[in-house]
Amino acid sequence: MKTKEIAAVIMAAGLGKRMKSDIPKVLHAVAGKPMLFYPIEVVQSLGVKKVVVIVGHKADEVMNTLKSEIRNPKSEIQYVKQEPQLGTGHAVLCAEGALKHWKGNVLILSGDVPLITKETIHGLLDLHTKRNAAISFISAIVGNPSGYGRVVRDKKNKVVKIVEDKDASQKEKRISEINTGIYFTDASFLFSGLKKIKKENAQGEYYLPDLIEMAVKQGKKVAAFTHINAAEVMGINNRIELAEANEEMRERLNNGLMLSGVTLIAPDTAYIHKDVRVGKDTTIYPNVFLEGATTIGHGCTIEEGCKIINSTIGDNSIIKSHSAIESSMIGHDVSIGPFARLRPECVIEDKARIGNFVEIKKSRLGKGTKANHLSYIGDAIIGEDVNIGAGVITCNYDGVKKHQTIIEDGAFIGSDSQLVAPVKVGKNAYIGSGSTITKDVPANSLALSRAEQRIVEGWVEKKGMKKIERQKK
Ligand code: UD1
Ligand code: CA
Repeated sequence: MKTKEIAAVIMAAGLGKRMKSDIPKVLHAVAGKPMLFYPIEVVQSLGVKKVVVIVGHKADEVMNTLKSEIRNPKSEIQYVKQEPQLGTGHAVLCAEGALKHWKGNVLILSGDVPLITKETIHGLLDLHTKRNAAISFISAIVGNPSGYGRVVRDKKNKVVKIVEDKDASQKEKRISEINTGIYFTDASFLFSGLKKIKKENAQGEYYLPDLIEMAVKQGKKVAAFTHINAAEVMGINNRIELAEANEEMRERLNNGLMLSGVTLIAPDTAYIHKDVRVGKDTTIYPNVFLEGATTIGHGCTIEEGCKIINSTIGDNSIIKSHSAIESSMIGHDVSIGPFARLRPECVIEDKARIGNFVEIKKSRLGKGTKANHLSYIGDAIIGEDVNIGAGVITCNYDGVKKHQTIIEDGAFIGSDSQLVAPVKVGKNAYIGSGSTITKDVPANSLALSRAEQRIVEGWVEKKGMKKIERQKK
């Protein structure tokens, strides 16, 4: 079957009551992406030409989030509002206008079934064609079917209907074959059938799965593609299922990384978002979070407890234990941490070293520059091979405005100095330890601002005899 002749409808209008959340259910994240992103990605990868997303509950929030996630859609994506939300049957019927001239088949997916794969959808389409069915759906055999619609079959094992959990008899509740909420049918049966669906059921809703019983009663062929991997077709209705889906997706993504040459010391505790790229021969220690649009080069080491968000790390760099990096660019052969914090907009060039308890914000550090201990560097432009001593602080904020510090190549900033911005330290200049620098320092000069040391000889004896007493004891 040519997937170009398929339109997809994705249901994402529901309230998601069981999530107990102010955030629409379909926007809750799986591996850092709203769960609704995944079925859309799958239909796009299938080459489906037209995608209709049914939105309703907090529709604008859902649409805006999706639009920012899918910047280059491969298919035409149309959002249709379902207002009020009267059930899944009603949701799909809302797509009728958008598919008015559509003569082909329609694939229906749920926005809360994010783990579904392209291969499984292909299985459904193939079976549909092979059986010459009027409507097909994906079922699964699960250990705990509660909450799902059950697939009722007759003595000859033919599908009779789908009964919702809330409408099921005790006997039906024991059926372990469930409806996954993914269907395939042609547009004319779909929309004519949906108009006939009634809402006489426990929830007073228009049930999309009622189409199955309708097809059977009309003598039409129904095919159930029974999937063996129940985890892949799980629906997310509450936070427990959300955690399970994240675990499953994590395993999938982490296996992909390992097969591509990345070492994960403890894959279960590597929390790596979907869009993150990691080069080969990089090693990732336990409890690492790599989030957003992050790229890690090859041959890197990311030690335990690090969190890296929307950042790029060059090749052969090491990020030592418990460091946090956000929206920054790190070059090659860089060493950061342990316990370092890079706030947004930092650029750290090749071979630079940032040590423990150093905080950097909106600053550039040139090649080979070192800030090894206990510093705050904010709004600074620092050249190459600069040495920032222990405890150096750029005083970038005067209480009203932020100001810039410029340190040129080869400068040496002695320990425990403060650079009161705006200020500039010229090339190869030296700042003596413990200085408070308030004026620009010319190249090749020494600046020293600390008070000169005084010695008062014999002061202890004269003042207090303390030392002598102590010696007596
Ligand atoms: C649904 C199926 C059930 C199946 C299960 C699989 C129905 C009646 N039941 O149940 O047979 O086992 O999925 O996961 O279809 N939605 C709308 N508009 C609405 C209602 C829902 O767009 O008016 C959307 C939701 O946002 C969600 C999807 O449809 O993405 C499924 O709705 P949900 O309420 O989660 O259905 P289930 O009770 O899980
Ligand atoms: Ca559901």
